[in-house]
Amino acid sequence: MRKIAIIGGTGIYSPETLQCFEEKVIQTPYGAALCNIGTMCGNQVIFITRHGVGHKTAPHKVNYRANIWALKSLGTEEIFATTAVGSLNPDMEPGHFVVCDQVLDFTKSRINTFYDNPERGVAHVDFTNPYCPRLRDKVINCLYKTDIIFHKKGCYVCTEGPRFETAAEIKMFAMLGGDLVGMTNMPESLLAREAEMCYTNCSIVTNMAAGISPTPLSHSEVVEAMDKSIKNMEQLIGAFIAA
Ligand code: HPA
Repeated sequence: MRKIAIIGGTGIYSPETLQCFEEKVIQTPYGAALCNIGTMCGNQVIFITRHGVGHKTAPHKVNYRANIWALKSLGTEEIFATTAVGSLNPDMEPGHFVVCDQVLDFTKSRINTFYDNPERGVAHVDFTNPYCPRLRDKVINCLYKTDIIFHKKGCYVCTEGPRFETAAEIKMFAMLGGDLVGMTNMPESLLAREAEMCYTNCSIVTNMAAGISPTPLSHSEVVEAMDKSIKNMEQLIGAFIAA
């Protein structure tokens, strides 16, 4: 029996396959985390909707530490997280899925560690590869069995938000090697590493990034684009749990 967590980003609030799960509030030293817990294909599955019920929590306000601590306390071994992203890479188009392999962290205000308290001491974790290679392979193998257009690699630039980026920022990120831009993979992926859980991400391109897109960006555009990809993402989540 695997112990798997799914962290659903924008648009992924209550996947059909996980609907008969039991809702539980898990208390942590960092606050409460709402988890939906159930069993699928013989595996324990915990679902967290990152932005909360009704998408009320902005990316810079998500309680990443409570979510990751709760998953650890429930015995989670593998975390599969979804994120909506803008694309800087002309080959990565709206509707495409990307199994990121690298991160550039441009967040500013978030507490990004569990090791900030004298009792726990100081630690410097290795983050050369921010996503678990074994889980990335699993997601890629699941994607090969679908009709979803996907990319096996991508560099995720995490911005602070909640505003979208300027055209100059996007130009700079592209020069630095970024492919995608989103607001939530940090510190989530890093906290999972500190808590010694395998973590991987699958990003869904919802729009071309600021200055590349011919029109101004809006959250409703992102949500509408995600709506079109929900069936594909639910299929991938189901395949990942069964794999
Ligand atoms: N920028 C930041 N986050 C995003 C975007 C974007 O263009 N699209 C979806 N999430």
